[in-house]
Amino acid sequence: MRRLRQSAALRTLTRETELAARHLVQPLFVREDLAEPRAVASMPGVWQHTIDSLRREAAAAAEAGVGGVMLFGIPAQRDARGSAGDDPEGILNVATRAVVAEVGDAITVQTDLCLDEFTDHGHCGVIVDDGGVVTVDNDATLERYTAIACAQAESGAHLLGLSGMMDGQTAAVRQALDAAGHTDTVLMAYSAKYASAFYGPFRDAVDSQLDGDRRSYQIDPANRREGVREAVLDEAEGADIVMVKPALGFLDVVRDVRDAVRVPVWAYQVSGEYAMLEAAAANGWLERRSAIIESLTSIRRAGADTVLSYWATEAADWL
Ligand code: PBG
Repeated sequence: MRRLRQSAALRTLTRETELAARHLVQPLFVREDLAEPRAVASMPGVWQHTIDSLRREAAAAAEAGVGGVMLFGIPAQRDARGSAGDDPEGILNVATRAVVAEVGDAITVQTDLCLDEFTDHGHCGVIVDDGGVVTVDNDATLERYTAIACAQAESGAHLLGLSGMMDGQTAAVRQALDAAGHTDTVLMAYSAKYASAFYGPFRDAVDSQLDGDRRSYQIDPANRREGVREAVLDEAEGADIVMVKPALGFLDVVRDVRDAVRVPVWAYQVSGEYAMLEAAAANGWLERRSAIIESLTSIRRAGADTVLSYWATEAADWL
């Protein structure tokens, strides 16, 4: 077996998995009413951006050759129905227009389509309080998603990331976009999105208001087949791309989904995966750069066509 490993030339010649800048998407956070970019404490190197610094980050990502940027907005005001999401002057929509103006021809500009960043209760949907028992109303939420989808498409987003895990969201959003004439807007469904502890630092990054958990809509991390069922359903509902999230703990699901659908499969290397490795590297316990490249390569090897990663621009520069 060592014959093909004896030189760098032979190893390069026989390498099975390619990792290139175009395989990476950079998530970026933009916050309303911010004078200066603000560091996210649990994610060293990640910032809540102003519109200006967001434009610069998007330009840097485009320059590095990444496949796209995924935008998340943090509004100044939140309410129960997440009104800032479909307000054309809401932070994410304003930021999308700014980023599209900056880099819209060079890379894909993508937006997170969910309610949690905009609601004062932090859930990904509309809640109903049934005598102290809070539940998320599936179909009332779909109405909010379709309104937000149209506002995001109107702002120029090329691709919408449906991250809320409501049943039927892909079909509902596709139908609403088509009816409004946004037939070219791409839908990327966070199909197999697990109720993961590894989203912890992200909730700092977006100042999440959530008190409780998302286990009534996100998948139990113990379930492998269920992730595949979700992806197959989303493909049938018209998703152009499906995603598995988180990535590193769910590589079996990435492989299963890759084998089960014909559309591109993406994976999200989430905030906790980032924080874990950064913390170990800061302590000198892991060699940062090679650990980052190995983790990204592993996600590709498992079957992901594209990886959302907070290291996207930096890794693209190395690649
Ligand atoms: C929901 C959303 C979440 C993430 C991306 N979109 C948070 C959640 O479901 O709680 C997590 C991303 C990460 O942890 O990096 N809009």
